[in-house]
Amino acid sequence: MMAWTTPAQRYFMRRITRHALLYTEMVTTGALIHGDTARFLAFDTDEHPVALQLGGSEPDAMTQCARLAADAGFDEVNINVGCPSDRVQNGAFGACLMAEPARVAQCVADMRAAVSIPVTVKTRIGIDHQDSYEFLVAFAQAMQAAGADRLIVHARKAWLTGLSPKENRDVPPLDYPRVHQLARDFSDLPMSINGGFVDLDSAAHQLTHIEGVMIGREAYRNPYVMAEVDTRFFGAGVSVPTRADVVAGMRDYIGRHLANGGAFKDIARHMLGLYHGQPGGRNWRRVLSERGHRQDAGLDVLDAALACVEPQEALA
Ligand SMILES: Cc1cc2nc3c(=O)[nH]c(=O)nc-3n(C[C@H](O)[C@H](O)[C@H](O)COP(=O)(O)O)c2cc1C
Repeated sequence: MMAWTTPAQRYFMRRITRHALLYTEMVTTGALIHGDTARFLAFDTDEHPVALQLGGSEPDAMTQCARLAADAGFDEVNINVGCPSDRVQNGAFGACLMAEPARVAQCVADMRAAVSIPVTVKTRIGIDHQDSYEFLVAFAQAMQAAGADRLIVHARKAWLTGLSPKENRDVPPLDYPRVHQLARDFSDLPMSINGGFVDLDSAAHQLTHIEGVMIGREAYRNPYVMAEVDTRFFGAGVSVPTRADVVAGMRDYIGRHLANGGAFKDIARHMLGLYHGQPGGRNWRRVLSERGHRQDAGLDVLDAALACVEPQEALA
């Protein structure tokens, strides 16, 4: 998610779940090839498994970027066919590509031939008035024939004109049954569903219909919602981390970031929701955001925020 799933945010999520697959922000092929390539490819080895999401539609550029992703050590490369923003439409990528399945299929096939990591596609259930089930099936067929390793389907269509990107995440109605039907009709194409999930019970229910679930906004707004992912879905023999464990796991990372000249707020802004709904949670958020913005903010601000939410003996 743009501006949200930065390396720091992903490192933070890894303190909460070791196994959920994390995604980068979308990076366009132009930015990756001609921009600050090293920055876009940078991640901490602790972030694994992590997928790089690409925005683009030129098979050669997409293939070059897939190679960069694989060489950098990403575990998956994903094509964005879901983002409806104007900027993205002008660049001929994102959700408008649902109308060009042959082009996306060419990208998938070329990328698959070039790298050994999975090549996956994130899409919508339709765009504008092209929202029939047959339209979605034709798109999925093209992806499967090209060798896509997984389809992640945001269970609402996108309006390419008339709605802002934000409205396009809320206004078109969710249609889970349509995605479940697609998963049934493509039983040998791994599929994940996305859109509107705010707890692990609803994710667990989805897993009776489909192989995977992607959680976006709630994992950011209320990250601790992911705390039982490993024990519930990956059978991992580890205990569920407490929120205090999560904070403790961030200290060295923040310290390194500060030592390298980075700002405390770059990391703290992603941690604001950790105590969402908990006693003192508002104060945690307030201390981190108000004091965390200061130039000289450091781990002392983290300690002050922690004192609002954790009993002092737990911090000793
Ligand atoms: C701030 C923000 C940025 C997003 N950026 C991306 C993106 O870069 N790529 C993408 O595929 N989806 C992006 N999305 C959409 C989410 O991945 C997801 O599909 C959508 O929010 C619906 O799922 P949710 O209800 O679980 O949030 C973004 C969403 C938000 C709120």
